[in-house]
Amino acid sequence: MTTPTYDLVIRGGTVGTATGRFAADIGVTAERIVAIGEKLAAGAREIDATGKLVLPGGVDTHAHIEQVSAGGLLNADSFESATASAAFGGTTTVMCFAAQHRGLDLRQVVTDYEARARRGAMIDYAFHLIIANPDAKTLEQDLPALIGEGHSSIKVFMTYDLIKVDDEPLLDLLLTARQNRALVCVHAENHGMISWMGKKLLAKGYSAPKYHAPSHPRGSEAEAFTRLIAAAELLDQPIMIFHVSTREGAEVIRKARGRGLKVFAETCPQYLFLTRHDIDKPGLEGAKWMCSPPPREHDDQEALWQALALGDIQTISSDHAPYAFDETGKLSAGPDSTFKQIANGLPGLETRLPLLFDAMVSKGRGEFAGRGLEAFVDLTATTPAAIYNLKGKGAIQIGNDADIAIWDPAKTVAITDAAMHDRTGFTPFAGRSVQGWPVHVLVRGRDVVAGGEVAGVAGSGRWIGRDGGWAAEPTGRLCADMDPERNFGAALLSEQVPAAPIIPANR
Ligand code: URP
Ligand code: ZN
Ligand code: ZN
Repeated sequence: MTTPTYDLVIRGGTVGTATGRFAADIGVTAERIVAIGEKLAAGAREIDATGKLVLPGGVDTHAHIEQVSAGGLLNADSFESATASAAFGGTTTVMCFAAQHRGLDLRQVVTDYEARARRGAMIDYAFHLIIANPDAKTLEQDLPALIGEGHSSIKVFMTYDLIKVDDEPLLDLLLTARQNRALVCVHAENHGMISWMGKKLLAKGYSAPKYHAPSHPRGSEAEAFTRLIAAAELLDQPIMIFHVSTREGAEVIRKARGRGLKVFAETCPQYLFLTRHDIDKPGLEGAKWMCSPPPREHDDQEALWQALALGDIQTISSDHAPYAFDETGKLSAGPDSTFKQIANGLPGLETRLPLLFDAMVSKGRGEFAGRGLEAFVDLTATTPAAIYNLKGKGAIQIGNDADIAIWDPAKTVAITDAAMHDRTGFTPFAGRSVQGWPVHVLVRGRDVVAGGEVAGVAGSGRWIGRDGGWAAEPTGRLCADMDPERNFGAALLSEQVPAAPIIPANR
């Protein structure tokens, strides 16, 4: 008997990348892709992918897992349930959050979240550091050290009473990020407008979940984007704007990018497939569709698809924020909850890729002009991995981790509450039918989902350390206020530290 050449061969499928598709076998040895070609030699294990699409596992760069939310509530999923659910939907890398709330020590927070993830995750993961307590220790000691250790993205909220950061501390954070080469991700909505509208609506007796939508005025997004971009421009600090929901928001981003600013942006399936009308349900049922920002109008969906096709928005994440529809989650304030008391967020790790595959590949949305599969891979895996510098992830190429989702493009699936694997007990996309589903999912060559069953092991997921990479690198073009040549010689950015130390590869 001949010795097999590879640990694993995935044979006979069509490989999809961000730039093309081709028939090829994939050879995997020691967790990595080591060969892509025709008629590869034997593997110790073989998977027949005839008639299937062999795609990189999805990279979901925004998911709240086993986390205390912006509203102060622990969400429903453990790392085990969330990452299993992600894998059932074809995702093999997730970026979640280590959430510092006010008064908490950032170093301790990160230690705690690391322990939770190590215990439960069955896909690979990295953290964004949520900063709500930008005191001297956080800014001068913990953040620089943690960024240097491989946590090279920060998340800041411009709204939510418990966690928001005002304009001046936001500048402090942007500066710390610049000095240490971290990307700053932002939940950008105008807090005052949301708070004011909420009070006015409640005073008139408008308390049902559907009023969550008008309580986040459309302009609150564009205003916060504009203010945030001005702050980032002042310091020449790259930013990522999370969950863009409006046409006006997308326009602000397009203009900023047109001026050469390093502004990246994300949207989510809820803004592409849902509208505010989905929240309009009897009683408190609409709570299941409540997230922030809220789903908007059909016209916004069209604008977001356009922005994705043109490159103004580069990633589509889930913003998985799971709360059960009971007293542990959405209804924690009881059966008479007002929209202001209901936890914001939707489950979405599992449905993100199938919804997008159905729209972009199976139905072939026109914006992508025949390259829907390539755009799907690009927006959901390759570019998110590149922006966040998740080395070895997001693409089928030699040397990368063998994170692979084998899709049956003909499989039709009815999305139901019961079919989901997270712990909320519902999905806001129930009742939809999609064509195309990942039927076999591997992380570093190991099965995580196979034959409709979970095959992954809690704790087998690996943390991905990373430096900020190209996305977090400032442009080097200083605006007038920061340029010593044009501000009477005040060298306000002169204390730059050299580029962040290169993180030893995590392998
Ligand atoms: O409604 C949402 N998105 N909840 C999660 C918290 C956040 O905004 O990131
Ligand atoms: Zn957010
Ligand atoms: Zn979020």
